[in-house]
Amino acid sequence: MAEKLLEVKQLKKHFKTGKGMLHAVDGIDFHILKGETLGLVGESGCGKSTVGRLLLRLLEATSGSIEFEGKDIQSLNKKELKEFRKECQMVFQDPFSSLDPRMSIMDIIGEPLEIHGITKSRKEKEKKVKELMDYSGIARRYVNTYPHELDGGRRQRVGIARALALNPKLLILDEPVSALDVSMQAQILNLFKDLQNEFGLTYLFIAHDLAVVEYVSDRIAVMYMGKVMELSDYDRIMHAPSHPYTKALVSAIPIPSLDKKGERIILEGDVPSPINPDPYCRFYGRCRERQKICKEQETHLREVETGRLVNCLLR
Ligand SMILES: Nc1ncnc2c1ncn2[C@@H]1O[C@H](COP(=O)(O)OP(=O)(O)OP(=O)(O)O)[C@@H](O)[C@H]1O
Ligand SMILES: [Mg+2]
Repeated sequence: MAEKLLEVKQLKKHFKTGKGMLHAVDGIDFHILKGETLGLVGESGCGKSTVGRLLLRLLEATSGSIEFEGKDIQSLNKKELKEFRKECQMVFQDPFSSLDPRMSIMDIIGEPLEIHGITKSRKEKEKKVKELMDYSGIARRYVNTYPHELDGGRRQRVGIARALALNPKLLILDEPVSALDVSMQAQILNLFKDLQNEFGLTYLFIAHDLAVVEYVSDRIAVMYMGKVMELSDYDRIMHAPSHPYTKALVSAIPIPSLDKKGERIILEGDVPSPINPDPYCRFYGRCRERQKICKEQETHLREVETGRLVNCLLR
């Protein structure tokens, strides 16, 4: 069995707000094996990007642990953190706002090489940047252009080339195709697959839509209001979802090949507030299967069958 590259235990991030404590990430557990893609899916505001930022230590956790190659990244000193930042990179949703408009493509992709002292001369940097452009499928003739001169797909390829510059092990892809049109999405998803095969990369692929992650993920974690509701392999999530929330998400995917039985489940009720949430199941107010007990006891993610974790008292 493949080794774990990353493991998160009881990770929490609470933000103090004027109205109370906002539980953005509220005690989540998962691991990612070397070379796999874990999809992280859930509606807007459920805490996905906060998880990504915690993993890169762009945010400090409220509590919990994050182990990368067996070492808690929260205990790294400055030098170790710099090394860790090489190994773990992020690709953002909006390739326009995440790229500095005043920098040329050469300088955007080359900047991390310079910061980390990987290339020693202009010539060496140019050579490496052009190689990275080849890998990312962006023609070398764009090397001296600026982000606004490129279409969305090429801009995202620049973001990817930059993320690859330091030879990372883990890429956190935060909605990397959400801003692109459908045909471009497919091309970029293919690129991620090719790069994974070529370099043995490990991905955390964040999306609000199951239809996007289904194409690339080995396993999928479904998040709802700061909690993981279900975590399993792609097949079971898509073809036999267990948690009522996963069932609703799957039923909403417009993919004929999924051979779906049953009707589309419309989620009723409002998303509850993440500020000072009730201690019982977060999904209670919208759940079709809820019982009295669901409001009386806390739920936890637990293994209900081998390789399938579900956060529901009724499973
Ligand atoms: N710095 C912050 N201060 C206070 N609240 C924050 C902060 N960052 C995020 N939040 C809140 O934490 C919750 C989770 O936000 P997050 O951005 O992680 O969600 P998301 O799942 O990535 O959503 P989206 O799909 O919209 O990107 C939201 O309620 C958000 O308003
Ligand atoms: Mg987000």
